Amino acid sequence: MRLNNFAFAGLWSASLAQASDGRNLRGGQEPLSIQTGTKRAAIVGAGAGGSSAAYHLRHYATEAGINLNITVYERNPYIGGRSTTVNVYDDPNEPVELGASIFVKINKILVDAAESFNLSTSSIRNARPRSQDSDALGVWNGADFVFIQSGSSSWWDIAKLLWKYGLAPIRTNNLMKRTVGKFLQMYEAPHFPWPSLSQVAFDLGLTAVTAATGEQYLKENNIDSRFAEEIVQASTRVNYAQNLPLIHGLETMVCMATDGAMSVEGGNWRIFSGMIDAASADLRLNTSVVAIEKQQDGTYAVHSKPTMAEEISRTDDMPVELFDSVVLAGPLQFSNIKISDIESAGTESTSPPRHLPDAIPYVQLHVTLFTSKHPLYPPVFNQPLDKPLPSTILTTLQPYEHPGTNPDGVGAAGFFSISTLRKTAKGEYLYKVFSPRPVDDSFLRRITGYPPDESTSEEVGNPAVTWIYRKVWHSYPYEYPRVTFEELKLDKNLWYTSGIESFISTMETSALMGKNVARLVVNEWVKKESQA
Ligand SMILES: Cc1cc2nc3c(=O)[nH]c(=O)nc-3n(C[C@H](O)[C@H](O)[C@H](O)COP(=O)(O)OP(=O)(O)OC[C@H]3O[C@@H](n4cnc5c(N)ncnc54)[C@H](O)[C@@H]3O)c2cc1C
Ligand SMILES: *[C@@H]1O[C@H](CO)[C@@H](O)[C@H](O)[C@H]1NC(C)=O
Ligand SMILES: *[C@@H]1O[C@H](CO)[C@@H](O)[C@H](O)[C@H]1NC(C)=O
Ligand SMILES: *[C@@H]1O[C@H](CO)[C@@H](O)[C@H](O)[C@H]1NC(C)=O
Repeated sequence: MRLNNFAFAGLWSASLAQASDGRNLRGGQEPLSIQTGTKRAAIVGAGAGGSSAAYHLRHYATEAGINLNITVYERNPYIGGRSTTVNVYDDPNEPVELGASIFVKINKILVDAAESFNLSTSSIRNARPRSQDSDALGVWNGADFVFIQSGSSSWWDIAKLLWKYGLAPIRTNNLMKRTVGKFLQMYEAPHFPWPSLSQVAFDLGLTAVTAATGEQYLKENNIDSRFAEEIVQASTRVNYAQNLPLIHGLETMVCMATDGAMSVEGGNWRIFSGMIDAASADLRLNTSVVAIEKQQDGTYAVHSKPTMAEEISRTDDMPVELFDSVVLAGPLQFSNIKISDIESAGTESTSPPRHLPDAIPYVQLHVTLFTSKHPLYPPVFNQPLDKPLPSTILTTLQPYEHPGTNPDGVGAAGFFSISTLRKTAKGEYLYKVFSPRPVDDSFLRRITGYPPDESTSEEVGNPAVTWIYRKVWHSYPYEYPRVTFEELKLDKNLWYTSGIESFISTMETSALMGKNVARLVVNEWVKKESQA
């Protein structure tokens, strides 16, 4: 049922009560789902969380013999959310990840989905610091490289690592395995599905890990502070743009879990696209949900409009559709959705506690992709001209730099990472820079060894750069230590996936939450049916 010609009148309840086709949605009428026996689910957001929710809803509903229509609303023109590619030189043969770029072998949902959609994955050797890397990696603190891993013979590098840091690398690896082992129980009965993230985290002993900072957690486990600062912190910075004294212990361990790092050829978003296809969902791209209103019968009216029309015409036609369940699958604070009167709607005493997620601080990350004929210029990093730089340059703070001294925590290095991703078909280098501030022209000139242009103060373009793409993301939350997490059930038939980002923010964990919510939704339908 699609109610067209619905005029935005400002007063949700008044206008809804008298929809333009004259039918009264508020009382009296049986929801269509009861008439037809078909359940209807709306999913807001086609990122990892929403796509996985759709995919698993279809799977569990089919298993339970429930007819289900799924509608996925996505305000962007593409599937994937923070998992998306752009094309170098606008050439479709040269895609490059703009957001989430890697997942790992233990990410079961992504790995299984990629396999069942026949997507090829390629292993990533240089995206995160790994002791067995064959690609060179360096950690720069703005003055010196505190750690460099050469490109060859890994046993020798491991020996060097042990010589420099003692048992810290081995202890960290063991600690990571123990911690990740607890997390993996979230996939299985008796813990799965979990109606509360706070509770399952507590039951699995993970609350103690999220309650501590990465610095504290490593210290408690006797891991040498030099290894923590030079290696682990380089990893928390490239992955989450955060330093060890602020990011919690669990997210710190996730940064060290890099075994079998991979990405999907052509783009990780293809997994999520495959999930939406397999779910036979009705996908509405370029469509923003603007309001969700609970009906007296427990269904929800979802109001949407073309994204491009967002501010222009408030009197445009605005479709309203009714659903039995709604899954909000993106951070609510950035979604511009009005959830009307969720606290006071309905008066039945049987309603569970209702909850609206708090806004939490997110990192603003500048991602800059560019190509150049020039390799990175060693003298900028105090290296001799004839010594090629590591293909991945991570950063950390200098010993005297307290992470509180500047608000973005980036320190003297000025950026979180610079990766040389590959050579393009034209034979140019493709670079990716993560930084808390925009990368300017003089920085690009310096790192590519192009002489600064002192003849004019005007921006004259940058001949060292042949293609550039900039994006500012709300990339992930600041992962401050905490012991409770947002509710995933906001109200009866209203679900929220993004609370998991304060626990762990990755494609896989969003997909896991989508799957968990799908299981809970179908369980409720099944329970109702057996009661009826
Ligand atoms: C630069 C960067 C690097 C990263 N690196 C990695 C990595 O290497 N590995 C990894 O696993 N993770 C990485 N992440 C994190 C990862 O991208 C996220 O954790 C994950 O993609 C979140 O998925 P999601 O579905 O929860 O949210 P999102 O991907 O944000 O999806 C939410 C969707 O909802 C849509 N939406 C919101 N409001 C509305 C509305 N009102 N109406 C309709 N649609 C709406 C949005 O357009 C969006 O598509 C990275 C993130 C960034 C930005
Ligand atoms: C489910 O979708 C089909 C096909 O789009 C449609 O014909 C049918 O009316 C829908 N059912 C409900 C209950 O919305
Ligand atoms: C979405 O909008 C973009 C322009 O912003 C357009 O190119 C694209 O075709 C639209 N896609 C759909 C499915 O409407
Ligand atoms: C994947 O490949 C297998 C074997 O080649 C085939 O049977 C299957 O249908 C393919 N699946 C998809 C989703 O294309």
